[in-house]
Amino acid sequence: MYVRSFQDSNADGVGDLEGVRGRLDYLRWLGVDAVWVTPFYPSPMADFGYDILDFKGIDPLFGDLEAFDRLLEDARRRELRVIVDVVPNHSSSEHPWFLESRSARGNAKRDWYVWADPGPDGGPPNNWLSVFGGPAWTFDERSGQFYLHTFLPEQPDLNWRNPAVVGAMFDVMRFWLDRGVDGFRIDSAHHLMKDPQLRDNPLLPPETPVDGRRTEYGGQLHVNDVGHRDAHEIYRRLRRLLDSYAAAGGPPRVALGETRIYEWRQWASYYGAQLDELHLPLNFGLVSAPWDAKTVRTLIDQVEKALPWGAWPSWVLSSHDEQRVASRLGPAQARVGMMLLLTLRGTPMIYYGDELGARDVAVPQHLVQDPWEKNLPGLGLGRDPVRAPMRWDEKTNGSFCHGHVTPWLPVNVTVPSVEAQRDDSCSVLTLTRRLLHERRRNPALSEGRYEPIDQASNDCVVFAREIEAQRLLVALNFTETAQTVHAGVAGPGSVVVSTFLDREEPVELSKISLRPNEGCLIRVLE
Ligand code: NOJ
Repeated sequence: MYVRSFQDSNADGVGDLEGVRGRLDYLRWLGVDAVWVTPFYPSPMADFGYDILDFKGIDPLFGDLEAFDRLLEDARRRELRVIVDVVPNHSSSEHPWFLESRSARGNAKRDWYVWADPGPDGGPPNNWLSVFGGPAWTFDERSGQFYLHTFLPEQPDLNWRNPAVVGAMFDVMRFWLDRGVDGFRIDSAHHLMKDPQLRDNPLLPPETPVDGRRTEYGGQLHVNDVGHRDAHEIYRRLRRLLDSYAAAGGPPRVALGETRIYEWRQWASYYGAQLDELHLPLNFGLVSAPWDAKTVRTLIDQVEKALPWGAWPSWVLSSHDEQRVASRLGPAQARVGMMLLLTLRGTPMIYYGDELGARDVAVPQHLVQDPWEKNLPGLGLGRDPVRAPMRWDEKTNGSFCHGHVTPWLPVNVTVPSVEAQRDDSCSVLTLTRRLLHERRRNPALSEGRYEPIDQASNDCVVFAREIEAQRLLVALNFTETAQTVHAGVAGPGSVVVSTFLDREEPVELSKISLRPNEGCLIRVLE
């Protein structure tokens, strides 16, 4: 959940921890097991909290440590786990560490960040670029060197090759583990280490069709600034830390990583050769793949194949960084997407609001907040449209905040509210809840094997999930025309859930009819 946008409790138009606490019953009702909350640490908010001033504090905008403890306590009582965002790659440029580091070349914290002399032409030390646009280096007049920032100049990269930095950040993680968090989502996990010689990235030939080619950043092959192998030692250490908490008799703690790597073997390396690194390197394949049955089927197979033995997959359909599912796929296929997400083998992640089928909000130019949009306007990179506040009911501001308060972004009114959808037997909210419920009560769905079933055409994805005597089928029509698929065998089955929520009826497994844009979860009857 994007904390700024979930629920405001103190009438300032910005969501906060107390607001989240007041909505825990909703999360429980929906059927989620764990909540990942985006950063709430003190921050100048240049990147809305991903630029941190104090890794162990709470920004007054979001509450205080007592509010955080109350949230943890109430979540625990409801058997909901809380995962916090840890941002190890960078700090705010106003963090005391960076202020010291910047103060002089000889400062003891100089080497806590990545400083380098200008290149031979007096420009940046190499050709690395910032994800948010422009060079990844900013010149510091006073000391005559450049510092590295993978994101904004206000987010200088910490130097993870310095053991003091490693020690300080592990101390931060211990602080939150001691407070009782259930785990971490490691921000920018694939950026953590870089080439120590700071070598240039090769350029892609201009004709190469790649995602993100719209930006200069997408035109480089990020071999020297992304996915460096030296980060693995850090993740092994992190895993030992988490395991030590469980070994001491506490509950298990989990590590999710933002690993935006699309070469699946490299992505899978973040599990660790001995499954001794991240529990769940996040898999963004479904976010970037073109939405057609053939591509999606191939993607699932590739991910399953790349997994080390015994590793557990993860699936993401959207987040606070990418288009909402219902905007990207359209409302009809968004239901199919939700069924796919919640029936695949692995841990699914639902971005708040997607359970309502919410779409991107058009944010007028004068209200733009996201620095990415401000730096590179008009390319569709801005993330404000997906961060609009949650609509809880049909009142003004959807009860996200008080009716006479101006929310930090316009409330997402692209679809009916939670209140309007919860009693509607055919709503996206009802579908999401229903699927989560089926997942919970059917071990085949939560733990079973994944078995793709080839079809004659490339219009549908069909697979089985099976454990012991239980076998379920998932049949998804990616097209706008009716299709007939088969389960590989003849025999009786029964539709448990259709994405339209309007049929629970017997089917013959050798000939399953799907309406346009329909997905079905089917029980195989013996
Ligand atoms: C990834 C986060 O999800 C994104 O929101 C943020 O801007 C960057 N990392 C930088 O921390």
